[in-house]
Amino acid sequence: MPSFISQFTTALLLLLLLWHYFSPWAIVVQRREYSNKSSNITTGDEVSTSKNPVEISQKPSQGRDEIEQRLGSLEEAFLKNVKAGSTTPNISRDDAIRMIYDVEKKEDWLDLIERQDDHGLMALTKTAQRYIYEKQHPSNCGSQRYLILNKFPGDDAFGLGAIVQRISDYLSVAIQTDSILLYATDTPPGEHFLSEDGTAPCGRSFDCLFQELSNCSSKAQKGMNSNTQSTFSDRQLDLDVEAFLAKHKHPIPLVFEEALKKLQPDITGEMLKYWWRAQAAAYIMRFNSNTSRRLKQFRLGENTRQLGIQWDINGDPKEVNVPFPIPEGTISMHVRHGDKGSEMRLVPFNDYVVRAEKYSAENPLGSWKRAFLSTEDPNVIEQMKTMARITPFTYSGSNSRWTWYWTDIPRLNTGPETQLKEFGNRTDLTIKWVLQLVMAIECDVFVGTRGSGWNRLIDSLRCVWLASCKQPFLEVGFENDWIGYGP
Ligand SMILES: *[C@@H]1O[C@H](CO)[C@@H](O)[C@H](O)[C@H]1NC(C)=O
Ligand SMILES: *[C@@H]1O[C@H](CO)[C@@H](O)[C@H](O)[C@H]1NC(C)=O
Ligand SMILES: *[C@@H]1O[C@H](CO)[C@@H](O)[C@H](O)[C@H]1NC(C)=O
Ligand SMILES: *[C@@H]1O[C@H](CO)[C@@H](O)[C@H](O)[C@H]1NC(C)=O
Ligand SMILES: *[C@@H]1O[C@H](CO)[C@@H](O)[C@H](O)[C@H]1NC(C)=O
Ligand SMILES: *[C@@H]1O[C@H](CO)[C@@H](O)[C@H](O)[C@H]1NC(C)=O
Repeated sequence: MPSFISQFTTALLLLLLLWHYFSPWAIVVQRREYSNKSSNITTGDEVSTSKNPVEISQKPSQGRDEIEQRLGSLEEAFLKNVKAGSTTPNISRDDAIRMIYDVEKKEDWLDLIERQDDHGLMALTKTAQRYIYEKQHPSNCGSQRYLILNKFPGDDAFGLGAIVQRISDYLSVAIQTDSILLYATDTPPGEHFLSEDGTAPCGRSFDCLFQELSNCSSKAQKGMNSNTQSTFSDRQLDLDVEAFLAKHKHPIPLVFEEALKKLQPDITGEMLKYWWRAQAAAYIMRFNSNTSRRLKQFRLGENTRQLGIQWDINGDPKEVNVPFPIPEGTISMHVRHGDKGSEMRLVPFNDYVVRAEKYSAENPLGSWKRAFLSTEDPNVIEQMKTMARITPFTYSGSNSRWTWYWTDIPRLNTGPETQLKEFGNRTDLTIKWVLQLVMAIECDVFVGTRGSGWNRLIDSLRCVWLASCKQPFLEVGFENDWIGYGP
């Protein structure tokens, strides 16, 4: 008997040791006030101490692949807010949409979000957006640490959604290391989306298209070695960011993970990842006033055409205007074809229409057969023009035939870079694409497949910028396509 007990104890100890060293959950939590970096005092119940993390690292010369998590006063405030009651919305759906086209100052974005109905936004959106904003906009730039992000390898072949998704990983690292994320200025990520004539201080970075990531800048943004993916301005931080990201495929800042688990203790890892990427994308893509102005010109038909088709009572097609904003109850369909065939099963356009007709038939009081269609496939647009209906109208909802809206942007059924090369001014074309995203979120029902990054972007923006998160999303691919996506 004693030998059995000692064997059992040894095995238990061994298991505990294995758990201790290899568990993905071994996060080091320390509480510290950010305002006092010289203090060593740790308080609170979440404290556990690190067992010399340098020893665990495989490549000590390049820095650790773990982050010590710290919850400061901003985090405490955030966690306290999780259970706070919601505020009364004071903006209509149409005015919220108009605000996206009328951005002047960077503060307009928080204003837009905070004035909307919490119940229509993704969980914790208002506090999360303010938290990210405050982390990236400190009152004093001098004493900050910066994480500078360079262009990604093979970046030119990526779509906008994929680049934004990768930037979100770095934004997460920045937040977790108490740093501010900035783009490198010589070769910033996603520079191929901007025209080459950029002379502004933002160069060809997303800071020219979107609100600046931060109101601080750093000397380290210039002259970055092209082989370096990212670097901290402050050499003291011993972290190999790429090794960390390779180990933690989808790092969500601990403060958000804790907050979301308070709301829903059994929240899945995939959901945490999707939530974070949606918040991060919505933060990264806040348009600046130039982009917003251009967007509105295109939206109202300047330099591009907004088109609509409707069948009259006799079944004859006629052209109609596209209202601004798009009327309530309109369905957004994003048909992802292009180069995506190599990565996922492409869903024929008919499937989208059949799915939408089924929804319309099931919800006759709340829906019309009226849709905004976006796609990079010109054939889909041609198909649409003759697609009055599929299901016999007596079964297919409140009205007999479809009303279609679309934008006459240049289309080529290929990947993004080929189109950017082909169609002239890169910035303008990017803004036309972004317009397709915004027009999609002007709608109230979403038909698409989350296997596509663009559809996930639509899903993310409607849930953060507009209170449309609980509107139906009708999946035409596989329901679990969004699980395990991305790099
Ligand atoms: C912080 O800890 C270090 C090492 O334990 C010690 O040398 C230092 O004096 C401490 N600083 C303060 C402000 O307590
Ligand atoms: C920071 O912490 C140190 C050591 O605990 C303390 O002496 C000092 O007063 C603190 N400073 C502030 C601004 O709280
Ligand atoms: C609308 O609500 C927001 C957030 O609650 C508040 O800050 C703002 O002052 C309100 N604006 C108006 C015009 O009532
Ligand atoms: C950055 O912006 C924030 C909020 O908009 C402001 O409070 C802060 O003073 C600004 N920081 C600097 C260094 O200008
Ligand atoms: C916005 O446009 C103006 C005028 O063309 C230009 O001077 C400014 O640099 C632009 N701002 C950004 C952030 O690109
Ligand atoms: C390209 O488009 C941008 C944004 O609309 C504009 O500021 C720029 O002047 C255009 N460049 C050229 C060469 O037309």
